[in-house]
Amino acid sequence: MQSYKVTLLSGDGIGPEITSVTKRVLLLISKKYDFDLKFIEMPFGGAAIKNDGVPLPETTLQECKNCDAVLLAAIGDPKYDQLPREKRPETGLLKLRSSLDLFANLRPVKIAPPLIKASSLKEDYINKVDLIVVRELTSGIYFGEPKGRIKTEAGERAFNTMTYSSDEINRIAEVAFEVAKQRRRKICSVDKANVLDVSQLWRDQVTLISEKFKEIELSHQYVDNAAMQLVRNPCQFDVILTSNLFGDILSDIAAMLTGSIGMLPSASLTKKGPGLFEPVHGSAPDIAGKNLANPIAMMLSAAMMLKIAFKETNAANHLEKAINEVLAEGYRTADLSSSDDNKLVGCFEMGDLIAEKIN
Ligand code: IPM
Ligand code: MN
Repeated sequence: MQSYKVTLLSGDGIGPEITSVTKRVLLLISKKYDFDLKFIEMPFGGAAIKNDGVPLPETTLQECKNCDAVLLAAIGDPKYDQLPREKRPETGLLKLRSSLDLFANLRPVKIAPPLIKASSLKEDYINKVDLIVVRELTSGIYFGEPKGRIKTEAGERAFNTMTYSSDEINRIAEVAFEVAKQRRRKICSVDKANVLDVSQLWRDQVTLISEKFKEIELSHQYVDNAAMQLVRNPCQFDVILTSNLFGDILSDIAAMLTGSIGMLPSASLTKKGPGLFEPVHGSAPDIAGKNLANPIAMMLSAAMMLKIAFKETNAANHLEKAINEVLAEGYRTADLSSSDDNKLVGCFEMGDLIAEKIN
């Protein structure tokens, strides 16, 4: 029997709740499709800070390097915002991404038909949305040097550096073109080339790479325009290729097309080595421990793991179908609830309903 080792990072806030329901559903799916999943649960984020003083302990990083895939819920809590930057949960996540060289972040955005009414946008604009954000994840302004804060005579000054090398742009562009081949063969590359040198290099390199992919239609948009286009006419997009910071911002906008950020999964991939699968949303500390969280983004991330990391396509499709069926029956967590006809359920009940569809 095929066996896969999954490092499970439940993290902070709603992380433990959504992890427990996702794990249960994954175990059911693995039984049904005859493969074995071994979960190694490791501390990460706030939980790790409490015990080890750092958000990404060395033992956790080693497990992540030595498994077949990493499944992460969410990290972050305002109570750590006062810590020095290197001790904050978010820094642990950046270190994990960079240590595993997870340069390619895929964030698919597709509307589940039963949720059309949960979006704040009108039905006609969103019912055919099917796009994917390909975000560069290990460079750009998130990692650029120099960065820091210095005291000056006039007070303080702080700075970060937005930087990309041609190689870094080429490799993420290649991923986007390969993804586009499997889809509707359209890429929109998003930058700010009218102002930033780093963006002009981005645009030049993406254009160069496109020579190798004649069958793909390439267009470019400035990031301010792209933000507007995402809410004005989101159906124009197939693949959105963009840098680390712009991808972070645009994927939150794109998430709201689907009704809730609680619906959006992601995969962070490298050329060789384990990928990291995590929901796009954060740890939502305000609703943590209250059985209010939506576990679907994490379950859809788990489905991406089954499909991309393990090639267990039937199992992944079954999980996605189970989720859609439960939504079609009208069950909603609070973030998705738009009218009185919905059947409002908690995180654990949502997990139970989805589990019932896997038999
Ligand atoms: C995301 C998150 C992270 C990011 C944070 C938690 C560091 O917002 O994955 O989109 O900015 O990349
Ligand atoms: Mn984000």
